[in-house]
Amino acid sequence: MRIVRITKELQELSDQERELGRKIALVPTMGALHSGHLSLVELGKQYADSLWVSIFVNPTQFGPTEDFDSYPRTWEADVAACEAAGVDVIFAPTRDQLYPDSAQTWVDVADLSQNAPGGSRVGHFRGVTTVVSKLFIAAKPHFAIFGEKDFQQLTIVKRMVLDLGFDLEVVAGATVREEDGLALSSRNSRLSVDSRIQAGVVPAALEAVEGKVLKGERSKVNLLETARHEIEAAPLASIEYIKFCDPGTLSEVSNKLSGQVLVSVAISFPAGDPSGEPVRLIDNRLLNCTE
Ligand code: PAF
Repeated sequence: MRIVRITKELQELSDQERELGRKIALVPTMGALHSGHLSLVELGKQYADSLWVSIFVNPTQFGPTEDFDSYPRTWEADVAACEAAGVDVIFAPTRDQLYPDSAQTWVDVADLSQNAPGGSRVGHFRGVTTVVSKLFIAAKPHFAIFGEKDFQQLTIVKRMVLDLGFDLEVVAGATVREEDGLALSSRNSRLSVDSRIQAGVVPAALEAVEGKVLKGERSKVNLLETARHEIEAAPLASIEYIKFCDPGTLSEVSNKLSGQVLVSVAISFPAGDPSGEPVRLIDNRLLNCTE
């Protein structure tokens, strides 16, 4: 396994792989790897000959009051996990490789990023699409693997690939969950012990909503109430949003749900570390609301 820190070096490696007719799959990550990431690596193996993982905690997708400093960084464990998973290349660029001094170029998928519930984090998706473009330019992969856990990010990245004509296919990997249904996330390690116990209400709320939809409930107001009720059972939970959106446009749907609807939630819990920065958990579920 090679560890590459320089963009130019990665581009040359990509050219060599391409000349040999080998397909490259890239799994972009911010490190603190868990089984969810490793499931994306496994998925990548079904598509490509050479498996690449990027590890870069991207400063531009964190707001000024968010957890950039306290975001978990577990370099040695990440390298060991990649090695064990059969990863061929880790791209771990230094900050100046992706953001040269005074960088001023942004990639912004305007409407989707604004419509998306997560667009309430000002500049978040612009930071994601900018860094993902840079990673694509550096790795020149044939396939890029993203988790469905961040469905909004996945939708926005797919649009960016289409709009900018990146010559690659975006492949989506299913969310991996803990026993109580909590979606695996690097941020879970920041939860306090009590927060971790209570965080099970996040998947429980989505489950309850889906259960009601299956029984015929189509009122957004009623389903919102169902989700709120579940989450409020956890005194440590603080709701940032519970939104019902069109999975294609990410805009909020009207009160009577129909067709495919994405329910997305962002719920914060107190951290176990002394940073004071809350741990923001996101999750979603695609609801089939056809009659
Ligand atoms: O999903 C993530 O971990 C990040 O948003 C990504 C795609 C690696 C960009 O920094």
